[in-house]
Amino acid sequence: MSYQTEYDRSMQDPEGFWRKQAEALEWFRFPQQILKRDADGIGHWFADGEMNTAHMALDHHVQQGRGGQLALIYDSPVSGTKSRYTYAELTDAVARTAGMLGNLGVTKGDRVIIYMPMIPEAVIAMLAVARLGAIHSVVFGGFAPPELALRIDDAKPKVILTASCGIEVKRVIEYKPLIDRAFELARHKPECCVIYQRPQAAAPLTAGRDHDWVSLLAQAEPVGCTPVKGSDPLYILYTSGTTGKPKGVVRENGGHAVALKYSMKAIYNVDAGDVFWASSDVGWVVGHSYIVYGPLLHGCTTVVYEGKPIMTPDAGALWRVCAEYGVKALFTAPTAFRAVKKEDPQALLMRQYDLGKLQTIFSAGERLDPPTEAWLTQISGKPVVDHWWQTETGWAITANLRGVEPMPIKSGSSTMPVPGFNVHILDDSGQPVARGTQGYIALKLPLPPACLNRVWGDDNKFRDGYLGMFHGYYATGDGGYIDEDGYVFVMGRVDDVINVAGHRLSTGEIEEVIATHPAVAECAVIARDDELKGQVPMGLVVLKSGVSVEEAELQQQLVTRVREAIGAITCYKDTVILARLPKTRSGKTLRKTLNRIVNGQEYVVPSTIDDPGVIPEIIETLRSKQFVK
Ligand code: COA
Ligand code: AMP
Repeated sequence: MSYQTEYDRSMQDPEGFWRKQAEALEWFRFPQQILKRDADGIGHWFADGEMNTAHMALDHHVQQGRGGQLALIYDSPVSGTKSRYTYAELTDAVARTAGMLGNLGVTKGDRVIIYMPMIPEAVIAMLAVARLGAIHSVVFGGFAPPELALRIDDAKPKVILTASCGIEVKRVIEYKPLIDRAFELARHKPECCVIYQRPQAAAPLTAGRDHDWVSLLAQAEPVGCTPVKGSDPLYILYTSGTTGKPKGVVRENGGHAVALKYSMKAIYNVDAGDVFWASSDVGWVVGHSYIVYGPLLHGCTTVVYEGKPIMTPDAGALWRVCAEYGVKALFTAPTAFRAVKKEDPQALLMRQYDLGKLQTIFSAGERLDPPTEAWLTQISGKPVVDHWWQTETGWAITANLRGVEPMPIKSGSSTMPVPGFNVHILDDSGQPVARGTQGYIALKLPLPPACLNRVWGDDNKFRDGYLGMFHGYYATGDGGYIDEDGYVFVMGRVDDVINVAGHRLSTGEIEEVIATHPAVAECAVIARDDELKGQVPMGLVVLKSGVSVEEAELQQQLVTRVREAIGAITCYKDTVILARLPKTRSGKTLRKTLNRIVNGQEYVVPSTIDDPGVIPEIIETLRSKQFVK
């Protein structure tokens, strides 16, 4: 089958195309209506089907005789632990954990927040919630208490599942104080908290609120799968938008299962029994889709890795895991490859390992920069495939479909639209641009299965935030172009979202934190290009009149504030005090211009600027601090 035939089928007969993909899964009742479009053109997939995602991902494989096959490999260099679960063992662990949650009163539709490190219990917890027909919301362990509290208030969970600690390279991070602080900050009070105790740090239990995971589990019986509708939510995953408040992306059970199952063969070219490794974290969408659901729905073995690509213990970590478990497809973010390249440019560590089983290396999270791609291709001798996606879509929008028809790889491009995604490049007025011309990347409605069709708790947020910009289209927030061969080049965000080491953050949210400092009158947070992390935030700050503070002292205080409010993953380090910010006559800060100046790019000063004299002033200040040449 050629890529073009496959893609055209998905466009000409979407219902027929996705009905066929849905047949690959084990439904309790096969959906009668494949796609329903509402008045706004928003698609609802498989809404009347009856199913359970955990059943499709676990029990079904056991019933098919795959119970003895490995489902999950846990490898944790930071704790010196390794373990394995067969499909039968994982199904049992999930069924018991679901029993434990059932004993706490969790039922269909309830929300459960999972705030955990990369241990098997995190995956088990997600699947256990799904088994009950409840809705999980995983919060990345690197987020600080205020971020956790925001999510608690929005999702209103009945229960929180957590662990006593996470383990970073240089330190053990105790979760209990973070949980306690989030409980204090949140208005909604979850009924209880279940804590998985790890030997690296014991958490004291708060009487009347906390339970010990292992003791509670010991009293639980395994329970079966609760049927849900295809349109019932499987999870809510919060992601940064342009405002300070994260958006809860709702993922429905039906479309999610169908799209991910399809993607495993079509995009990643793996089969049941193959080992698939997404080196990410269950706190991110990549972790949801390709550590947990995709590989298990497809009957693969997934790897849960608690460590870094470097430092745990060295830059050979990726290759060691691939060799040790016979990984067929490796998927991680460009920043991980850049970190390895920096430490081991000749790839001497790679040569210690037999990578014979590794077929393809996949990259996403940010654009794979051509030098890193060239290096990786040269040292590995494997196809290196960039693919572009977002939390909102849950799977790739553009990719090189290795299981359909591998296409020639073009450096800097994430190749072609994935079947189901109708990708267009539009100008400011919503008109299509010519091939090769940059513009806004928009997706014509309806979006294919798995993509969000609502934001938790606020339907208007989806319509206004994503569909309001171009009538009939979903605005991705990314800019780029399509070349004469139809290859898509995604060049970066056109809004206030930045990407730090593959982690999506909002500059607006960081600005809100900086603005709370008593010395700060106003600020602009912009994204500086960074060799390792892709982008890092930088604060340009104007002080209140009459206030004087040393820049170094202010910088240290802001670093602490941002770490405490959002988390260390923000990687906020640099602050520059300016006399004033460039503004339009209507008072809007010219962030785009500032961005280009700081990154040494050509810039155009808009004619609407209030006082053009401010620009040379700022350049001089930045030059004196060696931020610009
Ligand atoms: N819990 C608590 N803190 C965390 C954390 C977690 N789960 N993850 C990261 N942090 C902390 C780190 O300890 C670090 O803190 P520090 O400033 O006190 O040292 C900070 O957040 C920044 O972390 P990180 O971005 O991981 O930087 P690093 O210097 O420790 O490692 C890389 C650099 C490139 C190795 C690392 O960024 C990496 O592995 N990137 C890949 C990211 C990825 O897989 N993204 C998934 C998208 S597909
Ligand atoms: P997230 O929702 O955290 O997955 O982040 C999504 C954003 O990351 C996208 O909107 C892009 O800006 C960026 N992104 C992810 N993958 C790629 C890629 N392969 N190429 C370019 N940008 C990417």
